[in-house]
Amino acid sequence: MRLARSIPELDRHRSDLRAGAVGARTAFVPTMGALHAGHLSLVSLARRLADVVVLSIFVNPLQFGPTEDYADYPRPLADDLAKAEAAGVDIVFTPSVKEIYPPGRQISVNAGAIGSILEGASRPGHFDGVLTVVLKLLNIVAPDMAVFGRKDAQQLACIRRMVLDFDLDVDIVGAPIIREPDGLAMSSRNRFLSAAERTSALVLNASLRAAELEATPAEALAAAEKVLTKAVTAGEIVLDYVKVVNATTMAPVLEDHPGTALALVAARVGTTRLIDNTELIFASD
Ligand code: PAF
Repeated sequence: MRLARSIPELDRHRSDLRAGAVGARTAFVPTMGALHAGHLSLVSLARRLADVVVLSIFVNPLQFGPTEDYADYPRPLADDLAKAEAAGVDIVFTPSVKEIYPPGRQISVNAGAIGSILEGASRPGHFDGVLTVVLKLLNIVAPDMAVFGRKDAQQLACIRRMVLDFDLDVDIVGAPIIREPDGLAMSSRNRFLSAAERTSALVLNASLRAAELEATPAEALAAAEKVLTKAVTAGEIVLDYVKVVNATTMAPVLEDHPGTALALVAARVGTTRLIDNTELIFASD
């Protein structure tokens, strides 16, 4: 595995690898590090789809609000590099903040309406920061495809929208959510949960499983709300939102709706904010 700490170093590694394999396809897995089995599943999907796998580790300051955990975000670099190598990554790109955001930088991506609802309403500017860094990383790495987890469903929808709106020549691949054996969706933030909070956090997945059993979007939403309300009343979580939405637009789906939708939930457990989602399939009558 090759390590690139700067853009010129990345370019060198990329042309070395390209020289040995004409026509090789590159898959890119952007991450903020603290790699867990969820990230490694993105790498193994990338490995299956392409010849060269590039993984970036960059904790992007632009996507954190002023009261969020940028400084405390875990940065276990040595551990991440060992995991990336074992997973078969070809190049790890670990740029500095100065490399990505040189002094004098002025222009950012505006994530539009799709980026200002749900997560964007709770975390103003978050998706502007995500899209700005993703656009820059896509330009720097120039992959054929980029792989993102479906756990961050709104992030994936915003990225797909940006790719359309900016005519980016890259395939966006959404990879399935990876869960712990008890159903908790894997997240770098799970490590902040105490044992009791981790147990409380299971209600997010439980609410989605309840939604999956229902026949209409309204019933699915009511079922999820019922499960979550108990945990809110018991003081175990602070609910931010639970919604049933269109996976492409993130707009609420409330009427009878044959086809698929997403149930989304976001809640604070202790001081840790968690999100989760599941696909819902509704039959026509
Ligand atoms: O999903 C993440 O880890 C980040 O939002 C991403 C896509 C790497 C951009 O910083």
